[in-house]
Amino acid sequence: MTRYEQIKTELRTSPKIWLVTGVAGFIGSNLLEHLLKLNQTVIGLDNFATGHQHNLDEVQGLVSAEHWANFKFIEGDIRNYQDCERALAHNVDYVLHQAALGSVPRSIADPITTNAANITGFLNMLQAAKEANVKSFTYAASSSTYGDHPALPKVEENIGNPLSPYAVTKYVNELYAGVYARTYGFKTIGLRYFNVFGQRQDPDGAYAAVIPKWTAAMIKGDDVYINGDGETSRDFCFIENTVQMNILAATAPDGAKDDVYNVAVGDRTTLNDLYVAIQNALKECDFDSTKEPIYRDFRAGDVRHSQADIKKAENKLGYSPEYPILKGISKAMPWYKVFLKA
Ligand SMILES: NC(=O)c1ccc[n+]([C@@H]2O[C@H](COP(=O)([O-])OP(=O)(O)OC[C@H]3O[C@@H](n4cnc5c(N)ncnc54)[C@H](O)[C@@H]3O)[C@@H](O)[C@H]2O)c1
Repeated sequence: MTRYEQIKTELRTSPKIWLVTGVAGFIGSNLLEHLLKLNQTVIGLDNFATGHQHNLDEVQGLVSAEHWANFKFIEGDIRNYQDCERALAHNVDYVLHQAALGSVPRSIADPITTNAANITGFLNMLQAAKEANVKSFTYAASSSTYGDHPALPKVEENIGNPLSPYAVTKYVNELYAGVYARTYGFKTIGLRYFNVFGQRQDPDGAYAAVIPKWTAAMIKGDDVYINGDGETSRDFCFIENTVQMNILAATAPDGAKDDVYNVAVGDRTTLNDLYVAIQNALKECDFDSTKEPIYRDFRAGDVRHSQADIKKAENKLGYSPEYPILKGISKAMPWYKVFLKA
């Protein structure tokens, strides 16, 4: 039995209270769905900056009424310390801190707002969680922290200079987390996500991630743009792998804490190959998109290649990703077809 299977069995028999911040967003709502299905109690905090009520409504439709009754939603802002305290005033065992403003381009256009949510908001949550004596605090870090470090695959200990305000904010999270361990003995786990994708990832807006953006454009018959020559590569990670890592991290032994872990599959896919993979997966669900992509300039702040070394997560947390990219894309595409009413 994997550690993940074992932990899920333990959680089912001995349910816990979880706080998921950013619960109305992509990753947060998937965590919510999995935790409720595991019979856990979930407190959710969100201010709907980029999250949506329809994500919460969708989860409600996917779980039993009994499980849905174990969810309490708090509309609030992590930039406000009292809102963080309010969310933690429910005997929370485990915090999964996802709330932040994602997107490199957004942070370049508006670094002040990104800074407030991602640094002030993070510090508020960290401090409030320490004061509330939670059992564990797991937070969404980012592969953007590798910045301009050229080595591949990315090993947690070797990082370069950040290439965007967003990357700075996520690195500052790690610095604060380290200080809280050294100063207060409050040990956390940071999860450096690499391009997560899957159901409920927002396809709309200027700052949509590549997979939902392209999928929506293909379904609607709009032009699809590739930034650069298409040989830029990423370690795309299906949401179920990310959920697994959050549950493993939250329940990790003390010796695995005060650390950061890559969350990915350890593979690398170019944008050109990704384009074909999405087209093929859409074909599998009876949607034919034959349009050729349009190439344009590279985008500021983007790293050229990204691929994770996941050995630390495997060895210390028992991580075992169940979804390579193609399996994940095949699972995500039918959702987009329904969501976009194609
Ligand atoms: N999706 C990825 O590929 C990826 C990669 C690296 C890191 N991350 C990180 O993972 C986390 C979740 O990302 P996501 O992809 O689900 O994005 P998302 O935008 O779908 O979710 C973020 C959620 O946080 C909420 N939020 C933002 N500011 C808030 C505030 N001030 N107070 C309360 N709630 C607030 C938003 O409303 C939204 O529901 C973020 O911290 C992001 O930086 C994501």
